[in-house]
Amino acid sequence: MHSPNGNAPTPLSPVASGATADQARFRSVLGRFATGVVAVAGIDPVGGLPTGLAANSFTSVSLDPPLVAFCVAHTSSTWPVLRRAETVCVNILGQRQEHVCRQLAAKGAAKFAGLTWSSAPSGGPVIDGALAWIECAVEQEHVAGDHVIVVARVLDLDVHHDDEPLVFYRGGYGGFDG
Ligand SMILES: Cc1cc2nc3c(=O)[nH]c(=O)nc-3n(C[C@H](O)[C@H](O)[C@H](O)COP(=O)(O)O)c2cc1C
Repeated sequence: MHSPNGNAPTPLSPVASGATADQARFRSVLGRFATGVVAVAGIDPVGGLPTGLAANSFTSVSLDPPLVAFCVAHTSSTWPVLRRAETVCVNILGQRQEHVCRQLAAKGAAKFAGLTWSSAPSGGPVIDGALAWIECAVEQEHVAGDHVIVVARVLDLDVHHDDEPLVFYRGGYGGFDG
């Protein structure tokens, strides 16, 4: 691949710890891929309380069988808690839920403080204002670098609140004007 002026672009050198410039370029380039945002939520079977994390790595994987996937950093303190629940409930966030996203992304926070929610059929939390919910059971976890790719089987799903999506792009939030 060549740049328009005929010079070959500088290749991204292998990612190594401390490769700060390359990591900044990785973030800058990949940040140009606009995504939606989900809340991966569940009820901690130990305390019985809802918890969750914000994720933009969510995607559908397979229709038959119905599978979805998302990636979780090894550093997440919430994932080990969600992982011990029988099911997790993926909430697709709407454009009025930026505060929900920020709250779920905050480390150590009371994740559901002030949030109102109801229960999906298997008991997972459906946050008020979410566009849709997908209850699933974790089937596979694949370690991939500093993240784990979680593949989950869809048990039940439905639309919820009719609104525009929350869009994440270049580190900021926006809406969809389609
Ligand atoms: C817009 C957005 C998208 C995010 N996407 C992911 C993601 O796909 N995977 C991930 O592990 N963390 C993601 N995070 C970070 C987590 O929401 C959260 O900050 C992280 O899990 C640390 O919190 P914890 O220790 O409570 O898990 C995202 C954060 C934001 C704000």
